[in-house]
Amino acid sequence: MEPLREELPLFKVFIAPDAGPRAAEVLASGAVTQGPLVDAFERKLAAFLDNPHVLSLNSGTSALHIALHMLKTPDAASRWPGLKPGDEVLTTALTCAATNWPILANGLRPRWVDVGAGTANVDVKDLRRKLTRRTKVIQFVHWGGTPVDLDAIERVREYAEKKFGFRPAVIEDAAHAIGAEWNGIRVGAASRGTIAIFSLQAIKHLTTGDGGLLALPTKAMYDRAKVLRWYGISRARENYDENDYRLESDVKEFGFKMHMNDLAAAVGLANLPHLETILASHRANASYYDSALRGIDGVTLLNDVPRGASSSYWMYSFHVRDKPAFITFMKSKNVATSQVHARNDTHSVCAPFRTPLPVLDEVVKTLVSVPVGWWVTRRDREYVVEAVKAFFETTPAAEVSVSSPGGAAASGSGSAAGGERAGGAFCWTGTRSKL
Ligand SMILES: Cc1ncc(COP(=O)(O)O)c(C=O)c1O
Repeated sequence: MEPLREELPLFKVFIAPDAGPRAAEVLASGAVTQGPLVDAFERKLAAFLDNPHVLSLNSGTSALHIALHMLKTPDAASRWPGLKPGDEVLTTALTCAATNWPILANGLRPRWVDVGAGTANVDVKDLRRKLTRRTKVIQFVHWGGTPVDLDAIERVREYAEKKFGFRPAVIEDAAHAIGAEWNGIRVGAASRGTIAIFSLQAIKHLTTGDGGLLALPTKAMYDRAKVLRWYGISRARENYDENDYRLESDVKEFGFKMHMNDLAAAVGLANLPHLETILASHRANASYYDSALRGIDGVTLLNDVPRGASSSYWMYSFHVRDKPAFITFMKSKNVATSQVHARNDTHSVCAPFRTPLPVLDEVVKTLVSVPVGWWVTRRDREYVVEAVKAFFETTPAAEVSVSSPGGAAASGSGSAAGGERAGGAFCWTGTRSKL
């Protein structure tokens, strides 16, 4: 099999054709920070997620910071005890560092939950076992966009409430999962009653360059987060001194600088109408891989996806034998593959929180993702499957030795500076885009 001429990237930035002109309008307007486009973007996202309490921010990481910060405050009405330094957040270690560093930044302790090998999501049984009186928050990632069993999570909360007298809060890290559904309801919908965060960073289904969303379950949380994202100050006109329009009224609670601006919102508004099409092509490619990769000796699919889950397939992950050789072989065929996120618990910064995670120890030996997104054509996905088969069927594992096809792909570098037309949109490719 001849290698592809150009590397098939694992991720690609989608920018709609009118994003440039819309951003240019904002630049020319003289008003580039948070303004009417942020409001317009949020109204559309509220409709998409079926949640009126959605705030746009400068990143998904900021959304996690604000979520944990707000949970520090007790609430007698809902018997919420608040968070105290040293309280525990049950969380996954298999994720972007962004998931877990806000836990540390807020003076809390991550308590690692093992993953299920059949999903790469948290193992809900292990999560239940690790509940203690100090478990205040249950946080998890929908790996690759495939929802965790949210019914099982609710049962764990009920169990915790009976045992400890309060319901742990849930933060869904849905950075990969915009458009994903559980039991036919979108992740992030208000009816779920949880906090969900999304990332609008460069390589996500929906990007604003950088950006994030905080989807909240109540108006009270929404109102509070809305001022927390901008120093604790309401931007409403009536909040300002009548004589000197720059002077705000009393600040009751300090906040942060985490809001979205109109430049980013202009890009988001241009990209949003393409989101359904993008999701459909991720799903179609994943469905193809589901059948075409099944049964290959050396490949194990993530075959434990719960019934209620409809994935957004930001990634298509599975397990392979001889993973390092597999990645090198696929690179030689010009197909980018990766585990995508390094486990967080083994970083030095997490040394005080170490705990055995036997399933994760095995999972990281075998887990990879292959390109699945909107840029992957029918021909590309067939090529990917042929390459996977070629590795396992024709190359005995012990004898894998890869000669590079020459040039950029051999050294593993992406074509980060190249622009091309795809799917009617102008896109910058970037296999090395920062996660
Ligand atoms: C699982 C996960 N959580 C959180 C984030 C953070 O999102 P952001 O880059 O928008 O801060 C990412 C980013 O890729 C992610 O993959």
